[in-house]
Amino acid sequence: MSDSKSKRDNLFANPLGAVPGFVFDQAVVDVFPDMISRSVPGYETIISHTGELAARFVQPDTNCYDLGCSLGASTLAISHRIEGRNANVIAVDNSPAMLEKCRLILASDSTTTSIDLVNSDICNIDIYNASLVVMNFTLQFVPVEQRLGLLEKIYRGLNPGGCLIISEKLSFKPESLNSLLSELHHDFKRGQGYSNLEISQKRDSIENVLVPETLDNHIQRLRACGFQSTSPWFQCFNFCSLVAIK
Ligand SMILES: C[S@@+](CC[C@H](N)C(=O)[O-])C[C@H]1O[C@@H](n2cnc3c(N)ncnc32)[C@H](O)[C@@H]1O
Repeated sequence: MSDSKSKRDNLFANPLGAVPGFVFDQAVVDVFPDMISRSVPGYETIISHTGELAARFVQPDTNCYDLGCSLGASTLAISHRIEGRNANVIAVDNSPAMLEKCRLILASDSTTTSIDLVNSDICNIDIYNASLVVMNFTLQFVPVEQRLGLLEKIYRGLNPGGCLIISEKLSFKPESLNSLLSELHHDFKRGQGYSNLEISQKRDSIENVLVPETLDNHIQRLRACGFQSTSPWFQCFNFCSLVAIK
């Protein structure tokens, strides 16, 4: 078992030769809070507003799903804002190392909300009686051909008036715009203390593992699933968060 404190992310600080594909293993778990907060502009804002949206949308006696929960940041933001509603949070991740540490973090938290941790692929779980479904930076790791089916399942599992939050890295067209937004992101990472070597090795590692799509793609697919009411509520460089309401 790893210690429960987050270390500084230096996984890509030394030359790796052939850079291995990115996986959510124990090494990533150990540095995850530092990695995500120094890599995703607006991460803290998105997590805290996930709690705000939960306070608005979560109904008594319903389920909230945190899909790709990692160490439970969104789960806890939600849980603290819905106490006393008899709502359950179902937090799902397919990385055993993530879930093991998540379990420790949740055990030391004071929330009174009921939370179930589920070790599964999010494409294989049932979703029902949901007033909120959250996918903060997870859909981008699901194979592209499985994304429509997953979103259709979420639509079916949401109650009328229920809310889906999707936060993602985006791609842009034309390529010149994509490069600009990508360079602004890399400037942000340099500002957070990452070196050029770390930035380029992380990019090589995550390419083909994290597959971003355009905002248009996301919105059109959500509409095809039945979500008529959908909009970005936050964007910083090439990172965006959307709400879709059933
Ligand atoms: C970038 S992290 C999500 C961060 C987290 N939502 C937060 O806001 O702190 C992506 C997570 O999704 C999980 N994941 C990726 N694909 C998955 C899948 N198909 N089923 C379940 N979990 C998945 C990974 O194990 C990882 O923990």
